[in-house]
Amino acid sequence: MTAPRYLFPHRHLLGIQPLSPQDITAILDQARGFEEVCERPEIKIVPALRKRLVVNLFFENSTRTRNSFEIAEKRLSAEIINFDADTSSLSKGETLIDTALNLESMRPDLIVMRHAAPGAHALLARHMRANIVNAGDGAHEHPTQALLDAYTLRKRFGRLEGLRIAIVGDIRNSRVVRSNLWLLTKLGAEVTLVGPPTLIPEGIQETWPSVAISHDLEATLPDQDAVMMLRCQFERGTGAFIPSQGEYARFFQLNAARMKLCKPDVAVLHPGPINRGVEITSEVADGPNSLILQQVTHGVPVRMAVLFLLCNPHGEQVP
Ligand code: NCD
Repeated sequence: MTAPRYLFPHRHLLGIQPLSPQDITAILDQARGFEEVCERPEIKIVPALRKRLVVNLFFENSTRTRNSFEIAEKRLSAEIINFDADTSSLSKGETLIDTALNLESMRPDLIVMRHAAPGAHALLARHMRANIVNAGDGAHEHPTQALLDAYTLRKRFGRLEGLRIAIVGDIRNSRVVRSNLWLLTKLGAEVTLVGPPTLIPEGIQETWPSVAISHDLEATLPDQDAVMMLRCQFERGTGAFIPSQGEYARFFQLNAARMKLCKPDVAVLHPGPINRGVEITSEVADGPNSLILQQVTHGVPVRMAVLFLLCNPHGEQVP
């Protein structure tokens, strides 16, 4: 007798916080099948979301995430509408909820949204029948980024449990960190947050008690299996918390000299966009330990898995 299939219990992906370790593993396992589809030499398309209408609503800038979702949707054969926030009625004063209710009246099946307001997705989820996917809400969560990071780490190391991971930089303003903290702690990784005291919010260990904090990058590097570098989010006011970019780089940049302190096979990750010469130098970003472009590659099958599981909770086989 075959074991009963895992039933994915969520209609929306609002963040990593509400997911169980089993939910996360189900997404990562489902993504494996879709990675095979993406790596096919010729036709990389499956009919899994045929005749489903997906609306991409991006109210904040995005290159990677937006393109990655759109490619994932196309590979699942979905119908796609890209909603342009600049030319929408939002610029005429319509509220988000009115925009959403009007969209709802057109009966989309899935909505992928990036929005500056933390919790905007939860609001939409309360008012809409469509499945909602969070593609980033302010400095709150960016769940698909954490899932593709986890997919990349699991592929590289075969596991997440017990893996030692340093996350370095602008912890204060990063939604990538928040989603990664939920995910990595739920799956048993050992996380150290590294940065100047001004960029690590007080009380972070009240939410994630197992997480260590360090203000000394060089002392932290030798123990780590992976190092995830973050951009300083100057558009969210990080400039007020550091003396200058040069001073920041002097203590927290990952460069060739600091790579010598790391395990030889350490994995280097970065969610992008990279500020070359600030948090990371080109020789490290483009060097042999870097998994940065693999992260981007994995974004597509991971997002395919999320979209597919929200519409098909049984997680059927890849057609
Ligand atoms: C991140 C984001 O937008 O939160 N980028 C991304 O989605 N790949 C991180 C960042 O902007 O620094």
